[in-house]
Amino acid sequence: TMLPSSAVGVCHVLVLVLCLSAAEDFDWAKNDRGSFYYGTFPAGFSWGAGGSAYQTEGAWDTDGKGLSIWDVFSHKKGKVQQNDTGDSSCEGYYKVKDDVSLMKELKLNHYRFSISWPRLIPTGIKSDHVNEKGIQYYDHLIDHLLENKITPIVTLYHWDLPQVLQEKYGGWQNISMVNHFNEFANLCFERFGNRVKYWITFNNPWSVAVEGYETGEHAPGLKLRGTGAYKAAHHMIKAHAKVWHTYDTQWRAKQKGLIGISLSGDWGEPVDISNQKDIEAAERYVQFYLGWFATPIFHGDYPQVMKDFIGRKSAQQGLGTSRLPAFSPQEKSYMKGTCDFLGIGHFTTRYITQKNNPSGRSSSYFTDRDLAELVDPRWPDPGSEWLYSVPWGFRRLLNFVKTQYGNPMIYVTENGVSEKMLCTELCDDWRIHYYKDYINEMLKAIRDGVNVKGYTAWSLLDKFEWDEGYSERFGLYYVDFRNKNKPRYPKASVQFYKRIISSNGFPNQREVENWRRKAVETCSSSNQLLAAEEQRSSAANILRLIHDPLTSHMEMVTEIVVPTVCTLSILLSAIFLMFLLRRRN
Ligand SMILES: *[C@@H]1O[C@H](CO)[C@@H](O)[C@H](O)[C@H]1NC(C)=O
Ligand SMILES: *[C@@H]1O[C@H](CO)[C@@H](O)[C@H](O)[C@H]1NC(C)=O
Repeated sequence: TMLPSSAVGVCHVLVLVLCLSAAEDFDWAKNDRGSFYYGTFPAGFSWGAGGSAYQTEGAWDTDGKGLSIWDVFSHKKGKVQQNDTGDSSCEGYYKVKDDVSLMKELKLNHYRFSISWPRLIPTGIKSDHVNEKGIQYYDHLIDHLLENKITPIVTLYHWDLPQVLQEKYGGWQNISMVNHFNEFANLCFERFGNRVKYWITFNNPWSVAVEGYETGEHAPGLKLRGTGAYKAAHHMIKAHAKVWHTYDTQWRAKQKGLIGISLSGDWGEPVDISNQKDIEAAERYVQFYLGWFATPIFHGDYPQVMKDFIGRKSAQQGLGTSRLPAFSPQEKSYMKGTCDFLGIGHFTTRYITQKNNPSGRSSSYFTDRDLAELVDPRWPDPGSEWLYSVPWGFRRLLNFVKTQYGNPMIYVTENGVSEKMLCTELCDDWRIHYYKDYINEMLKAIRDGVNVKGYTAWSLLDKFEWDEGYSERFGLYYVDFRNKNKPRYPKASVQFYKRIISSNGFPNQREVENWRRKAVETCSSSNQLLAAEEQRSSAANILRLIHDPLTSHMEMVTEIVVPTVCTLSILLSAIFLMFLLRRRN
């Protein structure tokens, strides 16, 4: 096996060199990444961490819980890396006290978690049965948080739809979900609303729509290309609006809480900022991502560019109506302004360029956008192949939200970075860098006038990462999943994040550098605890790690290097020709 792996290595280096030289030809280094900004956050800024039910609770069939689409999906072979499931995950169901003490250690102001719909309502339909044992679990969690002065921020839908609703109605393809979800939400307001003051209807509906109903990478695993995602999104937006109105009319006066939605979005930056086509393509990228959901909620309808592009492509396909569903005038006014605060989940950035996709018979959400996504090979890629650290994109996205939606109140509901399983080190220096730089860009955005009230590090614990299983780790705390007890160990980033929280920002360079140095020093002792287990990592993982960067760089080769090499060759030939001609004269 020496030969293939060294061949891969050489290939990798070659590709990397090519990419690096190609990148120099582009203007994409010229962004106001600027310098580090020392300063503090506004008084009362809320610092938190988060997780979600299916990713952390385990206890998948305990105490009367019903099945969710994720239980069923992860039990099918070949859907999740290593055929992992969330059956036991972090055993969070049994570890409320332990986990709240980790939050206390960090001095968190808030903790973000989600309520599992099938744990409360096993079939998803409230009139069938309410599971009091499920209610008791969340009562216990909420009470324990409040006793420790940690504010609960609660998500109602973090992807775990009751399986019965999927089988009976087709899940989010069916408009009847709106009422079932509203009944579930109403039950939550009734039982928990005296103590919970921050509600989030949906977490990242983009992912539910696109990965659940378009690509099928997530539960329920449907591949309804070109239509499924739009329909699922349409019903989720309606469900969000309905639940907001339910809270507004029936509970707000008594409970005095806020209700919003958590939208995720990468930032899209034009490859060539002097090219109008690229500028429009980058804007389109963000509108098809964040704008798809935010525009209906804030302005009452889909972004015009989505209506135009999907409408035109549907017509070219010979369809009588657009694949993007339309809202009626009543629905538009009902939806508009249904957001007390906007949750923002953000992880990374892409460069965007215009790319025409001739509309054939095969349509999809991705081809509807007429663009290509690129990455700069110089961006640090600490873990996931998709998650490049590009801090300045965060500031731009936050400013985009401010200008597009009338400067709404924002809670950052997810921001963080993963590492691959092989790197089980607790000395996560790259995570410290990621948090430091992203939180700093958020501070700059606040100075720009963006109304950010809180920040949620994603995530408190390593946990089940959906189709990636346990192969990616986002936690501030390391979880040893091989041990039945699922013990937690602090990574170095715990110490660092704790300092940011206690200083409410970044006091000065000397101190911040000191935090980092101390954090990395102290973690090495806890690291030894794990050293023995690390050696068990399999050869299969080593191979995967080598391959991943290669495949992602290969995309770059076709998109950028090939045209660049061609251009360079033509240029060189021209110079050579000129040289020859001169010599003749
Ligand atoms: C997952 O399950 C499938 C089907 O049983 C099997 O072929 C595959 O090897 C399994 N993968 C792992 C990593 O165990
Ligand atoms: C929605 O559910 C109802 C009731 O089961 C069913 O009659 C209808 O066909 C479903 N619609 C879709 C689009 O699946």
